[in-house]
Amino acid sequence: MHYIRLLRPVSVETTNRREEVLSVLLTITTDLGDSFFGPDEPLALGVTLKAGSRATVLACPADNKSPLQWRAGMRVLKAQLRLREPLPKEKTTVCIFARSHGSRTPSTRPYWRHGFEDEHTELIVPVSVDMVDRKCAPVSLRTLALPSQANGDDASSGDERSLELGEDIGESIARHIWDAGLVTASFLSDSCRSAAVMTDILPVQHDCINILELGCGVGILGTTVAGIIRDAAAVQGQSLVEAYVLLTDVDEAEERARANIARAETVLEGKHRYAGEEDADEDESEEKPHVQLQYENLDWDDGRRGAFGPLSAARAWDFVVLSDCTYNVDSLSALVGTLSTLHKHSHSLQDAAETRVILATKPRHASEEALFGLLGEQGWSHRVVKRIPLPRVNAEAEVVEIYVLEKTGKK
Ligand SMILES: C[S@@+](CC[C@H](N)C(=O)[O-])C[C@H]1O[C@@H](n2cnc3c(N)ncnc32)[C@H](O)[C@@H]1O
Repeated sequence: MHYIRLLRPVSVETTNRREEVLSVLLTITTDLGDSFFGPDEPLALGVTLKAGSRATVLACPADNKSPLQWRAGMRVLKAQLRLREPLPKEKTTVCIFARSHGSRTPSTRPYWRHGFEDEHTELIVPVSVDMVDRKCAPVSLRTLALPSQANGDDASSGDERSLELGEDIGESIARHIWDAGLVTASFLSDSCRSAAVMTDILPVQHDCINILELGCGVGILGTTVAGIIRDAAAVQGQSLVEAYVLLTDVDEAEERARANIARAETVLEGKHRYAGEEDADEDESEEKPHVQLQYENLDWDDGRRGAFGPLSAARAWDFVVLSDCTYNVDSLSALVGTLSTLHKHSHSLQDAAETRVILATKPRHASEEALFGLLGEQGWSHRVVKRIPLPRVNAEAEVVEIYVLEKTGKK
């Protein structure tokens, strides 16, 4: 899988011919940034500008009439895109996407259905930025569509909601989304209308549920779980009063994660229909379950010693979720130690607490297998619930694995 990444903020410039252009510097790389996309045929890129409900398509670089293309061997693509009319001062979203099937606008379908239905179709994740007062915001955005539950099995016919996740612009790969998080978030959001899948992976057994995410990064997994938990409960016939989701990571991740929580708030508060409801939007008086999303720093070196912050310490955790956190074998011991102290802590607050973990990983080295030995030593059971082959072109086969881990008892 590859991602279109902006290497610097998009800017508005004036050419020698006094034409106004959008200046873009981008690359197309893997999540680790360790290899550039090398297609057999040039890949056409599309650019759209959206202000309010008005969308304009920009396809031509300013200096010639050829389409914007990414070719094998490229490491960066610099382009000046002619604006058909001056960029407005109001918020305008610029989206850059792969025109895989000659499309003129980016797909809004969830990545799961968009990219993974045919494992031989490469998925190039689009990127967008907001320009406000003609200046680029300092983050780029990834959009993940959450299907609605309105109309039975046909998720495409309901009200679509989408989550926006801000990432850093530039060469650093630190505050970005990663394959395992993206694939797992897409899988969960696509499956949240399936009682069988939700009962297996995300069983909701009480009217209140507490979920903690470890190593949340920009927050893709925890935010998606917060976005689908009402539907996951409804499809299991469970009426939910409150869902509390706490994202955690090291302090360097805090700013980006908090900004993404703020972005998700409208989606989490939004009124939409739930499985089995005829037209819930019409009944304004009906109580919706309250979904709260918060952030707190939690370094696993502290977590393994039980040194939790006030929010992590305040609750017994029904679920812990994490994606792409197990590739560094040096930190596995602290990570598993943190899972175990979280379980112990939950048990001290609530007798007979069971902790269930949803762990997603894209295995990169055989050494990562050490995780399962450490989990076993500390009394965790594990089972793989889903293996998802990634879409690829001219690249090695890769798979995202989703595990459920469980631990009961006091220790
Ligand atoms: C590859 S990123 C994955 C981020 C996110 N889960 C996702 O799927 O997009 C690994 C995350 O683990 C976090 N991490 C690494 N070591 C950590 C530690 N000792 N304590 C807490 N978080 C840590 C990093 O800050 C980073 O956000």
